[in-house]
Amino acid sequence: MPAKITTLTKTDLASYIELVRAGFGAELAARGTSIAGVARLARVLLSCRSLPLRTIELLTHRGLFILLAKEGGRAVGMLTVLKKSVPILIGAYVREEYRRSGVALALIDEALSRLKGLGYLRVQGAVFDHTAQLLVERAGFVPYDHIDLYQRSLPLGTGYPADGSVQRARRVDIPRHPYDLGPINALTGVRTRRLVVRSGQREALEAMLIALPHQRVGEVQLRIIPPASEGALHALLGAADGWFTKLGRTMISVSLHDDTQALASILIEEGFVKRHSWVQMAVDL
Ligand SMILES: CC(C)(COP(=O)(O)OP(=O)(O)OC[C@H]1O[C@@H](n2cnc3c(N)ncnc32)[C@H](O)[C@@H]1OP(=O)(O)O)[C@@H](O)C(=O)NCCC(=O)NCCS
Repeated sequence: MPAKITTLTKTDLASYIELVRAGFGAELAARGTSIAGVARLARVLLSCRSLPLRTIELLTHRGLFILLAKEGGRAVGMLTVLKKSVPILIGAYVREEYRRSGVALALIDEALSRLKGLGYLRVQGAVFDHTAQLLVERAGFVPYDHIDLYQRSLPLGTGYPADGSVQRARRVDIPRHPYDLGPINALTGVRTRRLVVRSGQREALEAMLIALPHQRVGEVQLRIIPPASEGALHALLGAADGWFTKLGRTMISVSLHDDTQALASILIEEGFVKRHSWVQMAVDL
């Protein structure tokens, strides 16, 4: 019998958290994410028939839904859909004993059909291994970018020559993090900071710093404005170190895309280690 696909409600929260623990518990622990904290946040968002979640979507035009696959009433698979200008599918997981029977594909097909019904034209997803890539390719996705995540502990060493002044900016030309909901961040506990590094009169780098609640890691997304110097990156990392440490974060991660891969050797020199790689995939609906 094909799995029944439903939207997560408060009733299924316990089995959903069990799936999160089974599927991504080790990875989340390595990132310092508290699953108990995530469960508390989810309980609040799904309370009163998901009124808080629906209100956030109304105010920010960003939202999310979580699909559960059930076999005989048991939750056996899940998929999260983040709704933004181009929605993103994340966190596909199917219990081992139910794999290779089309559960994940059914979850993805359901997500795509709902998003198409809502008028979206394109959907993205990031995969970190070949199996997941084969899966989303079956649903029509094709690769368009590649991300390497570099991570290390804080504080950073201070012996690297920084070149450039770091200033806060109102806007940067970097896509918003999926969990950055603008003014609603004050309620969810997400902290963001936009920075520009100037060398002389010129802008050399733009960056977005993100500190999610329930995590020990502060995340850095960046954009190089060529010809950026090595010193500009050191200046940025110094500023990120200061802000994340003030917020109590003990680790820092930097995501490098195809167009910022040239910075990898500098990060490695500073003691960063490549923790993950993803292929960014997308499908037109
Ligand atoms: C990846 C995952 C979600 C797939 O779930 P699933 O329900 O077994 O996938 P499906 O049965 O729907 O597979 C659909 C298609 O994907 C591809 N696929 C799925 N698993 C595969 C595997 N282990 N090897 C090769 N191809 C695979 C196949 O093309 C498959 O079609 P087929 O069975 O007709 O050949 C599951 O293996 C899983 O939970 N893995 C651990 C978590 C994870 O890696 N998530 C992805 C995060 S990016």
